[in-house]
Amino acid sequence: MKTTAGRILTEAAARLAAGGVEEPALNAQWLLADATGVERLRLLAEPDTQVAPAALKKFRAGLLQKEQGLPLAYILGWQDFMGLRINVDKRVLVPRPETEELAGHAADFLLGRKGDLSVLDYGSGSGAIGLWLARRFPALRVTGVEISARAINCSADNARELGVADRVKFVKGSTLAAVRSTFDAIVSNPPYIPTGVIPGLAPEVLSEPRVALDGGGDGLDVARMLVRLAPARLKKGGAMIMELGGGQAPRLLAAMPAAVWTGKKTFKDLCGVERFLFARKK
Ligand SMILES: C[S@@+](CC[C@H](N)C(=O)[O-])C[C@H]1O[C@@H](n2cnc3c(N)ncnc32)[C@H](O)[C@@H]1O
Repeated sequence: MKTTAGRILTEAAARLAAGGVEEPALNAQWLLADATGVERLRLLAEPDTQVAPAALKKFRAGLLQKEQGLPLAYILGWQDFMGLRINVDKRVLVPRPETEELAGHAADFLLGRKGDLSVLDYGSGSGAIGLWLARRFPALRVTGVEISARAINCSADNARELGVADRVKFVKGSTLAAVRSTFDAIVSNPPYIPTGVIPGLAPEVLSEPRVALDGGGDGLDVARMLVRLAPARLKKGGAMIMELGGGQAPRLLAAMPAAVWTGKKTFKDLCGVERFLFARKK
């Protein structure tokens, strides 16, 4: 029987590729590492490693789920976010690499602020952004606002597991009116995909919560609400820092009045997409 890691990985990658799965080799490697408890790179360096029957069974079950279009992170039960292990499942969106950049921009801004710092993570989902910021800044207070009670349960568990539950709270709400205080920064990765685009998305994305994706007709329903209500929820000089889809950030910035906002700019992501919006309350 072909039960060495190398053979298993070769066959599994071919099977995933034939099924149209993106990055078939990498997916197979992560699934085998998860099933065996052996580090992914070690499996590659030692392809003659024997895989025990129980691990092989678990691996095959994961492979099937991957073929059926489930995101790898749901199968593993976690996603790495800026070096933190964030538990994820069907209740929440899988945090994306570009959102790591968003969190980095927020951290850059907070480094220049003085005093007791507080951040609002709007549409907190798994909690990834706010939880990473809470770990990055040991005195930072974080509030997450989230429309989905199921997502809040997930993020609250993550906060406990990451040891920051005493400085992080999650509030259920569908607008910024859900909170009363003011913050040094509002950081948000709102749903921003236009409704009409959603049916054409990859199966992996379609297995994530629709409420995490669908931003309404032009994708900007939640984003527009945020820029409208943010001035009342920001301290003087506080920042609105948002992730959006390609082309959306300049459109939204143009609708933010100069009487209220200063330092308006957009940032490109590492792929060159103009994705992040930044503005400070005057
Ligand atoms: C794109 S996901 C971002 C999740 C997480 N912050 C991340 O970056 O991985 C958007 C999140 O906003 C939540 N959401 C959608 N509409 C909302 C609304 N009107 N008010 C609050 N949260 C909302 C969704 O449930 C989802 O968790």
